[in-house]
Amino acid sequence: GSGERLVVAIDGPSGSGKSSTARGVAERLGLDYLDTGAMYRAATWLALHEQVDRTDRHRVSELVARARFGIDLDPRTATIAVDGVDVTTAIREPAVSAAVSSVATNLEVRHDLVARQQALIADSSRGIVVEGRDITTVVAPDAQVRVLLVADPAARVARRRAELGETVTADDVTDQVIRRDADDSTVAAFTEAAPGVTVVDSTHAGLDEVIGRICTLAEPYAPSA
Ligand code: DC
Repeated sequence: GSGERLVVAIDGPSGSGKSSTARGVAERLGLDYLDTGAMYRAATWLALHEQVDRTDRHRVSELVARARFGIDLDPRTATIAVDGVDVTTAIREPAVSAAVSSVATNLEVRHDLVARQQALIADSSRGIVVEGRDITTVVAPDAQVRVLLVADPAARVARRRAELGETVTADDVTDQVIRRDADDSTVAAFTEAAPGVTVVDSTHAGLDEVIGRICTLAEPYAPSA
């Protein structure tokens, strides 16, 4: 190893298996883990909780700027708190999922959260796996390992449906996945890999296989004991 802290940047659309993959890589390599999507969700939770008009972009960004985020970088727990309130579970609620793109497209909020993410990365002494939509391009373009995780839409719909259970129809989930892709693509171009970014396709690969491929990419940079 070069002695520099290892940073692994992973971008991808929802349902690509990004979170499970990124956590698995962090656990296997003994690194910290940061889910930047959880930060956008926590900011959204706060705006909903404070009943701020989400179309009032400046008010939302002021609210987020004043917030204290408590982010646990342990991949086994990965809890997140806002002003001392643990929102780890609350940020996965449908109300937050439905509102999150209105906050994630707020450029003042993005500017703020990107700076916080970069500070967390700089403060990580063990090295870190960071996942999101703009990590390989904006947040950590200098990461030693940069991966775009992709999967065919049908595979992403199937995974999302497995998460949500049989109460939802395949059509509903397909609509959700397609709408989320369209919303998300307005803020970060994550469907095509930037130069130097390795595309990893999880359509036909199991979780362990995808984790293994990314760990192999990280091998040249692993700290030598
Ligand atoms: O990965 P996720 O579904 O938890 O992300 C939540 C939302 O935040 C989603 O609309 C995409 C957005 N996001 C973003 O714009 N930039 C990031 N780095 C991470 C997530």
